[in-house]
Order: sequence, then structure tokens, then C-alpha cells
Amino acid sequence: MFFSRKKASIAPHLEWLGTDMHSHLIPGIDDGSPDLATSIEFVKGFKELGYKKIITTPHILWEVYPNTAAGILEGLQPLQKAVADAGIDIEIQAAAEYFIDEYFQELMKHKERLLTISGNMVLVEISMLNAPMDLQEVLFEMQMQDYVPVIAHPERYVYLSRNKEFFEELRTAGCLFQLNLLSVTGHYGNGVKELAEYLLKNNFYDFAGTDLHHHRHLEGLQKLENNPLIRKLQESGRLKNREL
Ligand SMILES: [Fe+2]
Repeated sequence: MFFSRKKASIAPHLEWLGTDMHSHLIPGIDDGSPDLATSIEFVKGFKELGYKKIITTPHILWEVYPNTAAGILEGLQPLQKAVADAGIDIEIQAAAEYFIDEYFQELMKHKERLLTISGNMVLVEISMLNAPMDLQEVLFEMQMQDYVPVIAHPERYVYLSRNKEFFEELRTAGCLFQLNLLSVTGHYGNGVKELAEYLLKNNFYDFAGTDLHHHRHLEGLQKLENNPLIRKLQESGRLKNREL
């Protein structure tokens, strides 16, 4: 006798977030999804988790992923079509995760229009090894151009653990912070987890994102349901994902 084993259904436990604003779903242009079929699997995964909207954010990191705003928006179209064709009821938009490098500074210098996750908010990341010397100046220049920097996964910059007042300075300067949901599980290591706990305790986060690149991330997100830190974050009512 054969038993058909049904896939365990996933509770929509991230429904409270509404919108995800950090992922890598446009196929083949960074280290995220390699092809459209995989992107569709991931979008289905988002839907199961309860999300209503995805703002996907390919890397713009000039020496590795030389993407442009126009290229990203062009890549978004077939993804939107495939999502509609697959009958998945979820809105999908695109912005970018800008790495602060010389290319980014060139964009700023020439006042090129940046892709925003919403309004005037721009998702930026910095090196995992050390902070750029002129970080504050770049962030200030962004603000001079009316952008609001959203710092992607500040908890992953573990080298800043020794200099925690820096986080406060960034907050005071008007930067917003985005938590990677999987940081609280130890997915990126204990140092990242500890720093996330510190930033959570200080109520420093404005957004939470999946930063989904591949299947392991999706599996990790599916297991977050009873995570006490995520629960607490939900109960705090502080996050603004739903406003996006
Ligand atoms: Fe990312």
C-alpha cells in the first residue's frame, strides 16, 4: 500500500510584515535566483509565508554585478509576467541594493536617479570587512539629494560591534535600519545574531527583510514561525514594512 505524502503546509506566519523589501529574485543578474523557474518557486514561497507584496532588490556592486536601474526594471517585466501567468496573487516591484563603492559615488556625483524601495528610501549596503572611510559623507550626500538611506542588515557588519555608538550616530543622522530576518537564527553566525539582538533591544530597526537569495534562505524563513525574537518584534509594532 502506498501513502501519498503531502507537503506540509506552511503557516502564513510573516503575514504581519505585508511587504518584503529586500530579496534577489530577478534571474541571472546577481547571486540570487539563477532562472525564472526558480524565481517563481521563491515567489510562491513568499506567498505561502503570507506576504502580499515584494520589492525585490538586485545588487548593484559595480565590480561584481554591474547592474543599472534600467537593466533591473527591464528584468522585472518577465518576472511580473511569469508571476501573473502562474496565477500567484502577489504584487512584485523592483528597486536595488546599492553597495557603497566608487561607482555609487559617481552616481551621486552625477545626480543619477536612484531606484527607491518606496518614496525616497534607498537600500544601501557596505563592505562586510570594514566600513568605507567616507561613509558618513556619502550618506550625507544622499540626504542632500533628498534620499533617505536604509542601511541593509547593519547586524552583519560585525566589525562595528566594537564601536556600537556608530549605530546610534547613523540613527541620529536619519538613517533607517533593515534587519535580515534570518540574522536572529544564527544563520549568518553568532556574532551577527548577537549584534541583531543588541540592535533589536535598542529598537533600532525600521524594516525587516528576507534578503532571499536561494532555497536555504526560504527554508530558514519557513522555520521562523515560533522564533521568540521575531514574535517580540511583531508585538513591538515598530516595523514599517506594511507602509511600503
Ligand atoms: Fe541583499
